[in-house]
Amino acid sequence: MATHNHDHHHQHGHGGDEDDVLQCDHSRGAAHRHDHGLWDDDLMKKKEWDLDDWNKIYSRMAEKVTKGRPSRELVKYVGRLLPSEPARVFVPLCGKSADLKWLYDRGNTVVGLEGAVKAVELFFHLHPDLKHSTQDLPFGKLYKSEDGRLQVYVCDVTQVPAGALGTFDAVVDWGAYTAIASPDRPRYAEIVTGALKECGRYFLEVCHDGPPRVGRIPHSIPFRTVKLELGKGRKMEVLDTQDISAAWSVDSLFDSHILFSPLH
Ligand SMILES: C[S@@+](CC[C@H](N)C(=O)[O-])C[C@H]1O[C@@H](n2cnc3c(N)ncnc32)[C@H](O)[C@@H]1O
Repeated sequence: MATHNHDHHHQHGHGGDEDDVLQCDHSRGAAHRHDHGLWDDDLMKKKEWDLDDWNKIYSRMAEKVTKGRPSRELVKYVGRLLPSEPARVFVPLCGKSADLKWLYDRGNTVVGLEGAVKAVELFFHLHPDLKHSTQDLPFGKLYKSEDGRLQVYVCDVTQVPAGALGTFDAVVDWGAYTAIASPDRPRYAEIVTGALKECGRYFLEVCHDGPPRVGRIPHSIPFRTVKLELGKGRKMEVLDTQDISAAWSVDSLFDSHILFSPLH
């Protein structure tokens, strides 16, 4: 098995040759750290990674990346998130996540948003069957499959004008809320929940109950903050929780999958 893990061990954790960098599986922890030359000293010294830092990381990434696999728990809980398909699904901070294509292949309309253009280029390069085209926008760029059912906005999530993305039946938030630079998190939460229909559902992967600083990412975010930022007026249901403290060599850290759904 080719291992490409590093500080935040981005893999979807299924093993096999499809494992890849910059796809998130927080259960694997820092123990799987592997230096790919993507992280230099300047990046390691920073307490938060903003979009410029992510652009640097992706620019060092080899072209030879694989498609990866959909997130395990998304596959497991998709019936809870999307009781009726096809739906319109938003995947914020999507990177080159295999979740985009997996959701699309189920017939859904999938809209991703990612700040690092290289990640989006890599994604569409891996999926030539989507026959994408691009369009300049006042706040970024839109990549779109020929049939229009898979779109990725390349822009800073904090700069998206209100209403620009339309509304969604569901959000898939994986390695996003828990990864974005802390000062940007409240704005992120506002934009993403603002795009969710009132009857919509929100699937979240988040790390919590860790020491004040685990690394640069993931951030450990208390459930109270999660509830207040993402779950106001919605039911917050913890689908599962994994103790990932040993993998991260800390005394306490958990990874949970959460579903927000309408109160009634
Ligand atoms: C931890 S990675 C996760 C990627 C993907 N969700 C996955 O699971 O593979 C976080 C992603 O957020 C993007 N990002 C960070 N800050 C951003 C911002 N302000 N606007 C848009 N994208 C951002 C990074 O470029 C990176 O691709």
